[in-house]
Amino acid sequence: MPIKTRQRFVVGNWKLNGNLAANAALLEACLVAETHPRKVLGVCVPFPYFGQLQLALAKSAVRYGAQDVSRFDQGAFTGEVSAAMVAEFGCQLALVGHSERRALFGDSDEVVAEKFGRAKQAGLTPILCVGETIAEREAGITEVVVARQVTAVVQKVGIEALAGAVLAYEPVWAIGTGKTASPAQAQEVHGFLRSFVAKHAVEIGSTLPILYGGSVRKSNAAELFGQPDIDGGLVGGASLVADEFLGIWQAL
Ligand code: PGA
Repeated sequence: MPIKTRQRFVVGNWKLNGNLAANAALLEACLVAETHPRKVLGVCVPFPYFGQLQLALAKSAVRYGAQDVSRFDQGAFTGEVSAAMVAEFGCQLALVGHSERRALFGDSDEVVAEKFGRAKQAGLTPILCVGETIAEREAGITEVVVARQVTAVVQKVGIEALAGAVLAYEPVWAIGTGKTASPAQAQEVHGFLRSFVAKHAVEIGSTLPILYGGSVRKSNAAELFGQPDIDGGLVGGASLVADEFLGIWQAL
């Protein structure tokens, strides 16, 4: 199979940022992005803004979604938002297992797997985030860590659930730090992740989009996206700056 036939993505992760006026300006910028059948531009935003995005993006190919979903379906879970609720607002994407959720809000591998399952069930495209801390990298266990994170999901929902999903490799030490993994460092882990998934299911491994995240900028995007197993980026800080985000999209 020739490389680069996989679907490619640039997805912004606004995190806990935004207001109606600033969002409107960013969405305007997204709307001028040229669409492409195999390239997806998306943004994952705080829950209260779904209505705004639904209106602003109604006639566009830009996708949007959540930064997290509940592991529960419904019931007495104060403060939670279910994947089905997210889907009702036209969302197509849902991040699960972002390192900030894992580190700050206690999302274990098992919880992440449950959230992944809920997103799938609701018809969303889950973007499963995995990645090692600097201590884990220095201890030489990067592959062990990302394999464990993927395995938890595969054990919970089955390998078939990865079909139509997206993986994002985000080394924790590169997130929001300005320290990007070098293209070679990132490619090494992406290649490992692809072959790890392919060991379970060849076809799913070869078609699975694997995004890189961690201080992606328009200045480094082209080199990262040029790696054989990097199918785009998950972008935090730079997704809040229209010119940066569009520059990254153009590098895809
Ligand atoms: P960053 O964040 O681009 O600001 O490093 C990436 C992410 O957390 O998804």
